[in-house]
Amino acid sequence: MLTFKDFPSEFTFGAATSSYQIEGQSFGGAGNTHWDQFAAKHGNVVNGEDGAIACDHYHRYEGDLDLLKGLDAYRFSTNWARILPEGRGPVNQQGLDFYDRLVDATLERGLKPYLTLYHWELPAALADQGGWTNPEIAKWFGDYSDVVLDRIGDRLETVATLNEPWCVAWLSHFLGHHAPGLTDLRAASRAMHHVLLAHAEVMDRMRARGQKELGIVLNFEYAQSLDNTPQNLAATATCDAIFNRWFVEALTHGKYPDEALSGMAPFLPDGWEKDMERIQQPIDWLGVNYYTRQIVSLDPATDWPHYKTAHGELPKTDIGWEVYPQGLGSLLSRIKDEYVGDLPIYVTENGMARNDICANNLVNDPERWDFVQQHMQEIKGAIDRGANIQGYFYWSLLDNYEWAFGYEKRFGLVHVDFATQKRTPKQSYHNFISAFTKT
Ligand code: FCB
Repeated sequence: MLTFKDFPSEFTFGAATSSYQIEGQSFGGAGNTHWDQFAAKHGNVVNGEDGAIACDHYHRYEGDLDLLKGLDAYRFSTNWARILPEGRGPVNQQGLDFYDRLVDATLERGLKPYLTLYHWELPAALADQGGWTNPEIAKWFGDYSDVVLDRIGDRLETVATLNEPWCVAWLSHFLGHHAPGLTDLRAASRAMHHVLLAHAEVMDRMRARGQKELGIVLNFEYAQSLDNTPQNLAATATCDAIFNRWFVEALTHGKYPDEALSGMAPFLPDGWEKDMERIQQPIDWLGVNYYTRQIVSLDPATDWPHYKTAHGELPKTDIGWEVYPQGLGSLLSRIKDEYVGDLPIYVTENGMARNDICANNLVNDPERWDFVQQHMQEIKGAIDRGANIQGYFYWSLLDNYEWAFGYEKRFGLVHVDFATQKRTPKQSYHNFISAFTKT
């Protein structure tokens, strides 16, 4: 079994959450988000569930943070609509007060606060104005980030601008699976660029104010061609360009991959090329989220990008995603070799959904601990091959609102009974804390 002793002495062990998924949007004067709108429409979310109550973390954060004791760090996000209920303009002081208390409570428990400024809870008022398809969003996001950092910036270990821009842009505007639920290549292409422009805007502002340890969190999936036929290999290259290369290549090389531009260029905002220099400005670390692989093949019956993805034959987690730890090792080495070199990398999310049953205050989830161990083994391998990986955050501390899957898919180290809000640490939690608490 791998423990903290198998990793460099400064390696950071932690767990991650996000605001909308745990806090309870109905509390403390928070505004509506595009997820509230999306969830209200029949068929978008399992059981029509939303984040109104979620894990009631807004009231229970102290007990929840107690659960992290022994680890090094806590990755969380601030909620744009909690702080600026209309997205711009008047500040909800209760919201800022909450994060002020949260950061202090994190530090009091010996945990380093790793903030993400945007984990998908776009204020509904901004969604009404086009959200991520409106270029103004860079300024809106910048103004929001200033309000947050004025209040808590002095106590943060690191700041990530955005979580998973591919989900913000492509999953939400092309595939339609997340809010705002569009299936439109023009909207998606613009969002794919604006999300990076918003990142650049906030990077500029954070550098100007002297904020330290700035990064962004990207998601990667191992893209595997169904077979070696030229058409499926080409389809896989397109998928890989949109999913795995678009953001990291822009951030590190200042360009977008040709395989993706071939379909998106006509829809990008005028003059996008002149933004690339700003987008390419240095970051201090890169966050990598990894869960699974995709099997990719040509789908000639559809419009560009003409591919479809499927899950293969390997054992799957409860959300249907294949367990493929090798993909993480391979991607980490690729990210180092082709994009970031020696830049610090954190694995900012990794975890599995399991149909956990709580009986007699126990949840026995050996597959989850096995999942963590297999992925940690791959991280260790990537470190041995020279990647500068500095930490691992399990997704997630708590069972929570799993977006379009509602409350059905349980990723937590800690079980949550959503009827009573009772927390029950799972067996994997006990294993995680005992293996990764530095003694
Ligand atoms: C990631 C998200 C996170 C959670 C996990 C399972 O894509 O960042 O909020 O939904 O997947």
